[in-house]
Amino acid sequence: MLVPNAANPELLAARDWISTHLGIHFPNEKLDILSSRLSSVVAKRGTPSVEVLMQEVHAGTPQARLDLAQAVSTNHTFFFREQPTLDFFKKEIVAKTPNTAPMRIWSAASSSGEEAYTIAMIVSGIRGTTSLAPNVAILGTDISQRALAAAEAGEYDLSALERVPGDLRQRCIETVGPKRGKIVEGLRQACVFRRMNLATPQWPLKGGFNVVFCRNILYYFESRTQAAVVNHIYDLVVPGGWLITSVSETVRNLDTKWLPIEPGVYRRAP
Ligand SMILES: C[S@@+](CC[C@H](N)C(=O)[O-])C[C@H]1O[C@@H](n2cnc3c(N)ncnc32)[C@H](O)[C@@H]1O
Repeated sequence: MLVPNAANPELLAARDWISTHLGIHFPNEKLDILSSRLSSVVAKRGTPSVEVLMQEVHAGTPQARLDLAQAVSTNHTFFFREQPTLDFFKKEIVAKTPNTAPMRIWSAASSSGEEAYTIAMIVSGIRGTTSLAPNVAILGTDISQRALAAAEAGEYDLSALERVPGDLRQRCIETVGPKRGKIVEGLRQACVFRRMNLATPQWPLKGGFNVVFCRNILYYFESRTQAAVVNHIYDLVVPGGWLITSVSETVRNLDTKWLPIEPGVYRRAP
């Protein structure tokens, strides 16, 4: 394992690359976490050292970059996370949109899909159907291929699904094993998952989103990247469209055009 010391040049060089290219920042007090994650990538890949791994990363070897991105990102997520903002989404956005109106929603750091399917379940509850596509389209993007594969499968432990409110659980989840449940087909069809790095300046998206969820990701980024990300999202939402962040991530201090509505909720001027 690399010595997690703020004077270790190899570790600092890896930190700089990760910050510049993935937007994820490891401050000095988290260098021990970075060090152990780099060591685990090296061990898993059978690469001789972190130095060799970083040489492959610099050379642009796709699998090396993918393995590194996966190891340094934290995929922790769960169904119906942060109820107050979800209540706002349900009552002030979905319920006030005509039932037949198209809705394009983006979960911009979707991890293993819990956020995208939570959104789908809330819309399904208001619209009274699990057949949402093609009128409702939910895009989930993430940098981690492993997380995206889990999202696409749409299968979870029943213990994780206990967070889903009872009425929605009955309607939106089918049991597929003694301890496993699967999101029903109608909701899965409304959700598409793609790999995308938020920290790159160009995104392969055409915009027109009504709502973007960008939660529990901004705080990994330095404020310059945070501003670039939320400003880019601004350009991709329709006038009057919404940005939902985690309540602990504030967009107010950044130089943006987003109008603060309530903690974790921002709006593009109509
Ligand atoms: C803590 S999870 C948040 C998941 C979900 N949004 C939530 O609030 O529960 C953060 C996710 O961001 C992803 N991530 C980290 N850096 C990223 C980047 N530069 N571009 C896209 N996704 C990234 C990670 O892979 C991880 O799945």
